[in-house]
Amino acid sequence: MVHSAESLLPTLWHNLSAAVLVLDEKFIIHYANNSCSELFGLGIKRLIGQPLSAAFSHHHINIERINQYVLLDGVDCQQHRVDVVFIDNRAATLNLHTRRIQHQNITYILMECRRIDDEVRFDQASNQLHQYHAARTLIRGLAHEIKNPLGGIRGAAQLLQYEGCQSERDQCAELIIEQADRLTELVDRLLGPNQLLHKTPCNIHQTLESVIKLSMLDNEHNIKVVKDYDPSIPDIPIDQAKIQQVVLNIVRNAQQALLTGGKITLTTRIKHRLRRGERLMKKALLIQITDNGPGIADELKETLFFPMITNKDGGSGLGLSIAQTLIEQHEGMIDCDSWQGHTEFNIYLPF
Ligand SMILES: Nc1ncnc2c1ncn2[C@@H]1O[C@H](COP(=O)(O)OP(=O)(O)OP(=O)(O)O)[C@@H](O)[C@H]1O
Ligand SMILES: [Mg+2]
Repeated sequence: MVHSAESLLPTLWHNLSAAVLVLDEKFIIHYANNSCSELFGLGIKRLIGQPLSAAFSHHHINIERINQYVLLDGVDCQQHRVDVVFIDNRAATLNLHTRRIQHQNITYILMECRRIDDEVRFDQASNQLHQYHAARTLIRGLAHEIKNPLGGIRGAAQLLQYEGCQSERDQCAELIIEQADRLTELVDRLLGPNQLLHKTPCNIHQTLESVIKLSMLDNEHNIKVVKDYDPSIPDIPIDQAKIQQVVLNIVRNAQQALLTGGKITLTTRIKHRLRRGERLMKKALLIQITDNGPGIADELKETLFFPMITNKDGGSGLGLSIAQTLIEQHEGMIDCDSWQGHTEFNIYLPF
């Protein structure tokens, strides 16, 4: 026997894994599926007719936002990682999705709740582990970079102690100065760029052309550069030298990854309404640098933008961390997505 879709609906509704509520404009609960009683620890009968807030002893749901977005503007509203405490004192973290629905000329709010405690805990543990590894790598790298010049300085000072000949003494002094400068340079690079930006309206494509010219001076693997520019992009106020430095480092990284040749693509676009975490950009310039190399090594992915993360002989691992500082100074965003055969870096700069 084939059941009609209609007759299946009540069963479907009660078997959804998400806890689903239907609220009216005053946030009174009209319907709740079975998963709600499990989540809230209250029978469905005890939920219906109650205000939403009565289902919690404490909650961080942004009711004002739901009012504004869902009821007034009619757009969906998502709230991530909302901490709540239920009536029976159980604490939980929820993801909420709310949408306006109309039924028989009455406006309702459809609210889907998913519990994400396990994911949050897993993320925290995994973040902690990655940070621990990044910190260890940073300390090891630093120790290594500092120890070499220190050894040189100590050796030269020892020689200086017993050296009678003036020209030899001069050589030792020179060595000490050289190694001290090396240490200063290291510290400066670690501290990152600290000058103020000199922003002027710039043609981004001219900046990218300079990067291509510079990077192609040394193109021993015959890497192809493909340009996919949006010519309608107007001048944008940036510190041209700094943005050039950022893109050049990313292009150099791609060149260094393409050991057997390949392709680097530079793309420019205008993007609207971008959200990353708390930050919202109404209008942004996207500069995308893509290569078809082997991809970022798995063990580097989570901490890619940390200082001293590198797997290159002689690499300082500071390129991407400096890039991030410079993009932050522009109030922009930088991210990376990578798998075997594809690596893309996206730089967003606000207009
Ligand atoms: N396009 C890419 N493909 C594969 N791996 C990459 C790519 N870009 C970056 N990486 C990886 O990210 C690491 C960090 O890059 P970053 O530019 O910060 O430092 P680096 O290039 O190792 O050293 P530096 O830039 O200071 O000389 C690199 O060592 C490399 O392993
Ligand atoms: Mg680099």
